[in-house]
Amino acid sequence: LPPVRTLSPRLHFAPRNNWMNDPNGLVFHDGLYHLYFQYNPQGSEHAHLSWGHATSTDLARWTEHEPAILWDDTEQIYSGSVVVDHGNTSGFGTAEEPPLVALYTAAADGHQAQALAYSTDGGYVWTKYRGNPVLDRGTSDFRDPKVFRYDDGGDGYWVMVAVEAEDRQVLFHRSDDLKTWTYLSSYGPAGPVGGVWECPDMFRLAVDGDEDDARWVLLISLNPGGIAGGSGTHYVMGEFDGTIFRPTAPLPTPAPELLVDRSQSRDELEAFGWIDFGPDCYAGVTFDGLAAHERTLIAWMDNWRYAGSIPHDDSSEYRSAMTLPRRLSLTRDRSGAVRLRQAPAVEVGADEITELGSLTGRVAVGAGLAGAGSADAALPDAVRIRVTATFGDADSVELRIGAGDAGEVVIRQSHASGRIDVVRPDVVPPAGVSGSMSMPVARAGDVAWEIWIDVLNDRVASLEVFAEDGDRVLTALIPASSHRACSLAAVAGTLREVRVAVAEEAC
Ligand code: FRU
Repeated sequence: LPPVRTLSPRLHFAPRNNWMNDPNGLVFHDGLYHLYFQYNPQGSEHAHLSWGHATSTDLARWTEHEPAILWDDTEQIYSGSVVVDHGNTSGFGTAEEPPLVALYTAAADGHQAQALAYSTDGGYVWTKYRGNPVLDRGTSDFRDPKVFRYDDGGDGYWVMVAVEAEDRQVLFHRSDDLKTWTYLSSYGPAGPVGGVWECPDMFRLAVDGDEDDARWVLLISLNPGGIAGGSGTHYVMGEFDGTIFRPTAPLPTPAPELLVDRSQSRDELEAFGWIDFGPDCYAGVTFDGLAAHERTLIAWMDNWRYAGSIPHDDSSEYRSAMTLPRRLSLTRDRSGAVRLRQAPAVEVGADEITELGSLTGRVAVGAGLAGAGSADAALPDAVRIRVTATFGDADSVELRIGAGDAGEVVIRQSHASGRIDVVRPDVVPPAGVSGSMSMPVARAGDVAWEIWIDVLNDRVASLEVFAEDGDRVLTALIPASSHRACSLAAVAGTLREVRVAVAEEAC
């Protein structure tokens, strides 16, 4: 295989080099988005875990800084969160200059506990608290604290969600000063339990913007046991009264054996809520410090099944990237069901729009969008493609991306099955996870796709499919073929009102 030349991904954050996994400590403060992340400052393996650091003013272009919190011989710095301590409840700053406070998992052999670090310079230099750990259950898999301010109508208090990973439990604790934590309650095991639970998050969202009709959303990543195999992220909606989380539609408590044999059928899994139906959206958490209607998620665009073998090169190597930042909202669909919707929170250049009217057969889609009948069009490196259509008598609509050595990625919506299927060639990622994935759509007769493709390096690109206004999302790493041919087809019949809009990231 040819050596990999590392290009910067254009739309997705990736560090300059080395290993990265989960996003950590997402916080918006003083006009800057801070992204910390699981990072090995010394190499491209999952080791020496520390917090890397990057900032952005627009969520699209990132500046990488010195690592923020470093591992040492006694602990690795596992995942966690950052809050702006308005009111200086921790005493590490002043009321005028609130400190940023990080809660992270101090991970040692056979022991994980929650620890604190603070920054008084806006998130660049961090000091580990002398009184660490601040929350220790004496267990080996207690991790990933996500802290938020709970408004109880009075002064409010801090709430931490964290997991006992092997037990498939989310634990709730509260604190007034971020240093002393009191147990409140726990949630789980319930729903998908085919892997350990990791990286929880919880927040309140209004349904269709109506504050009187709000839900709490609990996100739980699990690995393996995800809907597309390996790592995946599940969500549950419910009520939180400041002490206990109660799901709106309680999920059955699984038999204890299930926690051991780790298998749930595809049908069983589809009954649960998933933020993403692809294999490459994991450990997603949201920003602190944004308004309620700006709740924004970033996830690790990878899967533990193969993260260690994603191609990279030796000079400026990095492994994997983050997903697009996604703005979250709740909407009620035609049947009255409440859904979690995701909209990319970045912008790209102007659309080139082609109205095809009806489509029978296949057309090329690409830079400058070739018209019907054009045989050869190649996609730019970073692109958004919107396709809308109505089914005539076609069986399915199909978008094919790439060709030749790396193989083709196929995105297909079938009218009869009411599903979108994605098939990616087996070459990258190299092992283990099925190359075909699938998600249901609510309006089978309409096609409403927004597809983002970004080239991460010479071998790997990313594909994010937002269908039905982001009610259904599927993220998958795909091969970066040298020739990114792209074509749209009506299979076995005609599509009507076909509109294709291509927008390119101008870098
Ligand atoms: C999730 C995870 C977390 C842990 C971190 C370690 O991907 O396993 O549970 O804190 O990664 O890097």
